[in-house]
Amino acid sequence: MLIQKAIFPVAGLGTRFLPATKAQPKEMLPVVDKPLIQYAVEEAYAAGVREMIFVTGRHKRPIEDHFDMTFELEVALEQAGKEELLGVVRSVKPDDMECIYVRQAQALGLGHAVLCAQRLTGNEPFAVLLADDLMVGTPPVLAQMVEQFKEWRASIIAVQEVPPEHTRRYGIVAGHAVNERMMDVQRIVEKPAPEAAPSRLGVAGRYILTPGVFHEISNQPRGVGGEIQLTDGIAGLLRREKVFAYRYEGRRYDCGSKEGFLQANVELTLEHPVLGAGFRDYLKDLPL
Ligand code: UTP
Repeated sequence: MLIQKAIFPVAGLGTRFLPATKAQPKEMLPVVDKPLIQYAVEEAYAAGVREMIFVTGRHKRPIEDHFDMTFELEVALEQAGKEELLGVVRSVKPDDMECIYVRQAQALGLGHAVLCAQRLTGNEPFAVLLADDLMVGTPPVLAQMVEQFKEWRASIIAVQEVPPEHTRRYGIVAGHAVNERMMDVQRIVEKPAPEAAPSRLGVAGRYILTPGVFHEISNQPRGVGGEIQLTDGIAGLLRREKVFAYRYEGRRYDCGSKEGFLQANVELTLEHPVLGAGFRDYLKDLPL
């Protein structure tokens, strides 16, 4: 497999989701019945990744516990004959998946979080998934990107068109289209004002990066918000290597914001095979 390792930066403070994130990681917030981090890990697994590297911080123990074996729970479910639930619990971490944890002592920014995983990725290209961006796609978005990587053999960033008034929320890319979905990136800017944005293509939380990006991140001064930005590292990489932006097929929910999180819950419940129909009826009867 081409991309064996994925980095999940989960050390952020999650201030947009206070007070829910005061003592628990936002990546453990559930959409329907699964924590956000599990959606991201399943997406990576579906793309062939088997080594999951979590960059954690304070209050992030629940993430480690979630991907550990829960011996008492499994015994209790087994004794109660609850085979289906036992399957659900066991499928959280398939046997051929490895979980590795590294700490980011201080939340100095996404670029810094990725840098914390440098020693664990070796000299191979790797994926980065931000679990608070919940992606729904068929095939899953990272699998689409791995397919592209096979062809282009260079860093690839997932992008989507964003409304002009939202450019301040994203890294924005510009460049030359090489086909309907791929762009040869010439510029990338973190959170520009609408009038300074070089395009309306905003970076979503999925990346395939070559190891050269580590050197670039470590050479960047602090960027927007005083943070060590991944975007600035990618901007450095652009000067040495090709970087592509890929317009993925699928939907994205910004679950780091309350609004996006609520939308994800409503839409994924409506699509749920068991809950969907009843929930639709419930919504129809609401006095809106
Ligand atoms: P965000 O920009 O959403 O920041 O980070 P945040 O701190 O988590 O949340 P807000 O903005 O305060 O509400 C994007 C991703 O990068 C990780 C976060 O955990 C999230 O998955 N991150 C961010 C780190 O791991 N370390 C950091 O220093 C910053």
